[in-house]
Amino acid sequence: MKLPHTSPEAKHLPVMIDEVLKICTPKNGGTFMDCTFGAGGYSKELLKFPKTSVVALDRDNHVTEIAERLKKKFHSRFFFHNKRFSKLDFDSSIKFDAVIFDLGLSSIQLDDLSRGFSFKSKNELDMSMGQTERSAKTVINSYGSQDLKDIIKTFGDEKEASKIAKNIIKERASMPIQTTDQLVKIIKNSKNKNYKKIDESTKTFQAIRIFVNQEISELIEGITKASKILKPGGKLVVISFHSIEDKIVKFFFKHFSKNHSRSNKYLPENIKNLYLFEDYKNKIIKATSNEVKSNPRSRSAKLRFAVRSEDVFYDPEELRIKFKYLTDLEKRIA
Ligand SMILES: C[S@@+](CC[C@H](N)C(=O)[O-])C[C@H]1O[C@@H](n2cnc3c(N)ncnc32)[C@H](O)[C@@H]1O
Repeated sequence: MKLPHTSPEAKHLPVMIDEVLKICTPKNGGTFMDCTFGAGGYSKELLKFPKTSVVALDRDNHVTEIAERLKKKFHSRFFFHNKRFSKLDFDSSIKFDAVIFDLGLSSIQLDDLSRGFSFKSKNELDMSMGQTERSAKTVINSYGSQDLKDIIKTFGDEKEASKIAKNIIKERASMPIQTTDQLVKIIKNSKNKNYKKIDESTKTFQAIRIFVNQEISELIEGITKASKILKPGGKLVVISFHSIEDKIVKFFFKHFSKNHSRSNKYLPENIKNLYLFEDYKNKIIKATSNEVKSNPRSRSAKLRFAVRSEDVFYDPEELRIKFKYLTDLEKRIA
C-alpha cells in the first residue's frame, strides 16, 4: 500500500538506508533488531527480503499503529515492543545478526507540534518521546539556576547557558513557562543578536530533550545490552546525530575491540583478554550529498558499526564509568 504524502509515516525518510542494508546483508536472511522503530523505515526494508525476521522497539506509543500494520502483513516475521531500549532484555537463546539504533527524533514526533519538540510550535512544553518521568515544563519551572545551566551547557554545548538559565528563573518568577514559544522568547532575548548559524533555540531544545528522555543513560544501557544479544560476527549499527552520542559509541567500539590494548591494571584477570568486538577501524559513514539534498535531517547523521567477536559477553563497566558525569547529570532531581 502506498501511503499518501500527507501521512506522518510517509514524511519520515529513513536515514542512510542503503548503507544500513549493505552492512546488515539481509538478502541472505537473518534475524534483526530495530531498536528505534519510528516510522518503521528500516524494519520495512529488512522485511522486503524473504528470509528475514525483525524484532522492533520504540518507547513512543504513537507508532504502535504503524507496527500493527506491519504485524498484519508479516505475522511471525515481525514483533514490536513498546519499550525503551535500555530495557532490552530478551531470552538469551535468541541471538541477532544485527542490532540497529537510529537515534533521536523521527519526523512524526518533530512534526506533531502538540508534543513540544519543535521550537516552531506554540504548544505545551512536553518533549517526551514516551515513558519519561518528567516533562520539559517540569524541568523549566522547577529546576534551579545551576541545574538548568549545567543541563543546557553540557547537553546542548550552549555558550550562553548561564544567561538563558538566569532568564528562565527571572521569567518564571512572574508567570509559569508553559509553552515552547515562551521558552523560545527567553532564549532569543538571552542570545547574542549576531548569532545566525543555526536557530538560536536549537541547542537549548536539544539539551532539554536529552535530559527529559534520559538519552545518554538510554544509549549506554541500550548498546551494552545489544552487544549481549548479538551472534558472533553480528553487527551493532548506530546512527547518531550529535557529538555526545558519537563520543559514547566511538569509545564503546574502540575500547572494547580486539585491536585496542586494554592494559588497565585494575581490570579483573578473567576479562583482561576478552573483547566484545573484532578489530575496529574507527570509521564514520556519512550520508551522500544526494541524500542530504533530499533529506536534510541526514546532514548531521554519523553511522558507526562494529562486529561482535566470538568471545563471551562481559559487562563493559568502563563505559559507564567513563560517562558517569553525564548520566549523573541526567539523574539530577529538582
Ligand atoms: C530517528 S527515529 C527512527 C526512525 C526509523 N529508523 C525509521 O526509519 O522510520 C527514532 C525513534 O527512536 C525512538 N527512541 C528514541 N529513544 C528510544 C529509546 N531509548 N528506546 C526506544 N525507542 C527510542 C523514538 O521514539 C523514535 O521513534
